Amino acid sequence: MQWIQVLAAALFAPNVYALLRFSCSGLVLERLDPLVNPGVNGSPHLHQIIGGNAFNVSMDPAKDISTMATCTTCTFSQDFSNYWTAVLYFKARNGTFKRVPQKGNVNFEAANGGMTIYYSPETSGKTTAFQKGFRMLIGNVNSRSKATSSQFRQLTYTCLQTPMTRSGETMDFPTAPCPSGIMANLRFPTCWDGVNLDSVDHMSHVAYPASGTFETNGPCPSTHPVPIPQLFFEVVWDTTGFNDKSLWPTDGSQPFVWSYGDATGYGTHGDYVFGWKGDSLQKAMDTNCNINCPVLTTQSIADGNKCTQKSSVPENIDGWLTELPGNMPITS
Ligand SMILES: *[C@@H]1O[C@H](CO)[C@@H](O)[C@H](O)[C@H]1NC(C)=O
Ligand SMILES: *[C@@H]1O[C@H](CO)[C@@H](O)[C@H](O)[C@H]1NC(C)=O
Repeated sequence: MQWIQVLAAALFAPNVYALLRFSCSGLVLERLDPLVNPGVNGSPHLHQIIGGNAFNVSMDPAKDISTMATCTTCTFSQDFSNYWTAVLYFKARNGTFKRVPQKGNVNFEAANGGMTIYYSPETSGKTTAFQKGFRMLIGNVNSRSKATSSQFRQLTYTCLQTPMTRSGETMDFPTAPCPSGIMANLRFPTCWDGVNLDSVDHMSHVAYPASGTFETNGPCPSTHPVPIPQLFFEVVWDTTGFNDKSLWPTDGSQPFVWSYGDATGYGTHGDYVFGWKGDSLQKAMDTNCNINCPVLTTQSIADGNKCTQKSSVPENIDGWLTELPGNMPITS
């Protein structure tokens, strides 16, 4: 599997030598959001969720989901965490919407959609893994401009010319058809306050480096002094069925819209609920695993594909829809 390491070296700044990179297939598509709308069956917008099957409308931080889940869609079989993002739709000229399917990333083509997940340790010292009850989100669902999404630094899109394209990231949706799909990239903050497992906005207990970036070894701010792994999602949206320009808006704009009613792409966001078994993630960080990780156990992508949940929100999310799920309006 040496070529994967070559690929990884090409994808990341040269100072980052170790990382976990693995596939998690889709678990369920449904309008639940246990972080932002706990207990609400039918949260405002549709999500795609991956990871362990203890995902639920409410997720009590005092409970250990790694002992409640009976399977996971992730190939590292100790990982029962949940990860989720919004869902991409195509808006036709006649105003109806169709869900854009997801597909497996390079080397994970067998995955039933889902995401590629990375955890990268600090290279210059100790990395403190997330622990039971930890959760966070990144991005601002209401952002519709570069100015308001710039604080997140590293929430971007890659217009895939080929499945291997890794350059030309933009903060808003690509403006031209992408021959191999659109990849959404979500890099989470890498510094923790060392105390709080969550916060009211699910963000202020973590921070980006005080200067530079994780990739350039930027130091953590004094308010958030504890280096945590860089959590990174890559989500490949298979837009290839919608690349015919004769289907695109007549005003020259691009046709894709997020399930929360964002046609700009600036409101992209992702959520995380930690759920690794015991100290398995800490061990993987301490061992500086690179792609393969002997201190962890793995399952095949095919086995990950078998882990699914049924949507607990009865509604149709496919076909040509006259409204986005939840009647979510498009807002600017
Ligand atoms: C979700 O929570 C409800 C209520 O606590 C429980 O009955 C149900 O089994 C949970 N579902 C899963 C998949 O854990
Ligand atoms: C709307 O447009 C889509 C895509 O062109 C088409 O498949 C669908 O049949 C249209 N629906 C109606 C009601 O015209």
